[in-house]
Amino acid sequence: MTDLFINSDLEDYAISETSDGLKSSSDNEAEMAAANVAPSLPVLDISLMRGTSEDQAFFLSKLRDILHNYGFFYLAGHGVDAKLTTDAIEATKQFFALPEAEKVSIDMLNSPQFRGYNRAGMELTGGQQDWREQVDFDCEEDIAELSPEAPVWKRALGPNQWPAGLPEFKTTILRYQAEVTRVSIAVLEAIALALGQDKNFFAPMYESGPRQHMKILRYPGLEGSQSDQGVGAHKDGGLVTILLQDVLPGLRVQSQDGSWIDAPPIPGTFIVNTGELLELATNGFVHADIHTVVAPPAGTERFSIPFFFGASFDGTVPLIDLPDELKQKERGVSSDPANPMFRDIGLNHLKARLRSHPDVAQAHYSDVLEELFQAVG
Ligand SMILES: [Fe+2]
Repeated sequence: MTDLFINSDLEDYAISETSDGLKSSSDNEAEMAAANVAPSLPVLDISLMRGTSEDQAFFLSKLRDILHNYGFFYLAGHGVDAKLTTDAIEATKQFFALPEAEKVSIDMLNSPQFRGYNRAGMELTGGQQDWREQVDFDCEEDIAELSPEAPVWKRALGPNQWPAGLPEFKTTILRYQAEVTRVSIAVLEAIALALGQDKNFFAPMYESGPRQHMKILRYPGLEGSQSDQGVGAHKDGGLVTILLQDVLPGLRVQSQDGSWIDAPPIPGTFIVNTGELLELATNGFVHADIHTVVAPPAGTERFSIPFFFGASFDGTVPLIDLPDELKQKERGVSSDPANPMFRDIGLNHLKARLRSHPDVAQAHYSDVLEELFQAVG
């Protein structure tokens, strides 16, 4: 049987090289502790889904274990051209190297749709400033017509903002966004199969138009007494996240015993993690892990591009009727009472954006904020 874990240049990263079954996270952690080696996230090669039926069954059993025990893994064999990932990171670096005036010309404050640039410190996670600068994109779409009865999340539909000084930037970012959308759908189809469902089980959640929220990020090096919160501890809100990291580490994932696992970049892979919508849909069988990014050392800067594949705003989250052996392992949903999740996808998304960007909320949603936060807690 084909080995789950990549040999050649990825073998140093595999946590469990055997093909006779992935050890549980606790087994791994015990072994790592015994060997005095830091635990790491598993690596999965999705090209096995194009292999024999035996390869596919092997891949899906590992994926099922990872979804339940980790919620995070490295994805290899995804088929995205290495040049495109390099180009996307280069475009990111070029943007952040622009003069301040050009960057703020696409300030998110201009955008009721939460698209555009934020200086470091403008976004909050857990009520604390995140020390990173960023540009947010989502679907390229027109502003929605808003009738008085329209749900308020329709205000979040609209165009991206693009820097005038970088003509190739938009092309590269949209090509990259399209590719990671393809990868996300392949991952979701595999997740559906791993959960004993039809391959297209999740399609109704996104076939009318998936959300394609994406950020380009620059984490400046740590200066003086500044907080080391690159981004504070949080779960992602969508279905799956596909993360591309440049060369510096910083991402840390909380395991279920509360300890933190470093997730440094591995060339040729993405990090994939499951979001709150999947935790909701599986009543907690799938875990949406808490994660954080620690600011890089002084004199350095870290770049990354997370892509959050989400369900259409007009949908709701289904509750999957899992096979009995999986149902027994459902844990319920670990919702934060101060930040509850909703099965109404558009409302869930808007709630998260309003909390993260209070300046945009005040500028464009002040007429509905009180009512919304009464509704969302
Ligand atoms: Fe995240």
